[in-house]
Amino acid sequence: MEPSEEFLFKHKGFYFHPGHVTPEYIDSLEDFEIRDSDVFVVTYPKSDCDDGRLLQDITNTISIKTVSNKAIFFPRNVWIQNILSFIYHEGHRDGTENMKIIARVPWLEYNVHNMDYVHRPSSRLFTTHLPYYLVPRDLRNRREKVIYVARNPKDVAVSYFHFSNFSVMLETIPDFNIFLERLLAGKGKFHLLGWSTHRDDFNILFLTYEEMKKDLRGTVLKICKFLGKQLNEKELDTVVENATFDKMKTDPRANYESMLGNLLERGKGHFLRKGTIGDWKNTMTVAQSERFDNVFKEKTKDLSSMFSWDIN
Ligand code: A3P
Repeated sequence: MEPSEEFLFKHKGFYFHPGHVTPEYIDSLEDFEIRDSDVFVVTYPKSDCDDGRLLQDITNTISIKTVSNKAIFFPRNVWIQNILSFIYHEGHRDGTENMKIIARVPWLEYNVHNMDYVHRPSSRLFTTHLPYYLVPRDLRNRREKVIYVARNPKDVAVSYFHFSNFSVMLETIPDFNIFLERLLAGKGKFHLLGWSTHRDDFNILFLTYEEMKKDLRGTVLKICKFLGKQLNEKELDTVVENATFDKMKTDPRANYESMLGNLLERGKGHFLRKGTIGDWKNTMTVAQSERFDNVFKEKTKDLSSMFSWDIN
């Protein structure tokens, strides 16, 4: 079953929201003029569903989400967006304190604020859900930087289960078992597989949520090295301190809750919920976990060993 065109349209094998983007605009992005200093963060969209109800697959991105066919654009992957914004805006000591994260690291394909991307000063930071074959052609010259963040899909599943139940624009599925079955039934294209198979075409850094969590400072340093950014100790401390879960949870510019306005049912949950590794064990039964493992194994058999981290 295809999703209702009222809510999503399919273009070149990928789903988009008609209120926010047109096929012509997506096609035009192929020729989008990029600069060597541009940085693109790639995540898997929760809006990218297979049959109008489900997410496409269980690949390991931090932002795999299940959706209803009423899903609309949603900012994603707030942690890496914040880290980049702190690195480039020198810990927000440069007068950008009150800029929303979405203005610092806007979406390439969903220009919801009609920003003038062409004339934005360097370095331009972008977020995108696009699959590797729809991004600007010149990204393949391997000069601009791409960062891809993945997360244990079991934790993503549980995180999203909670999230979907307090987001008013997503389908609410209160029964985790039903949620999981619908998640696992997705038949869509494999976002991470595409990007990892074509990684040599791009200047790309793959990160995992788990490494960020285990060694935030080390990960920030790794990102800085990849970006060619040199921060002094004090600047580094500021980035790390501001990117911790506790800090972001109380920072209205960082936790999205104020930005999401009436899209969340207040009091029912938080965008920054637990921020831990392995929380899936508190929700999934052994049988659900085994079922997940089987589907995951089948889906990821072609995935490079660089992503074969232990999901248990
Ligand atoms: P949990 O629901 O497991 O807590 P996204 O931004 O892609 O929707 O991801 C949200 C998930 O990332 C949530 O996971 C959230 O807590 C976690 N997250 C966001 N910022 C974080 C941080 N600074 N440290 C740890 N986890 C963070």
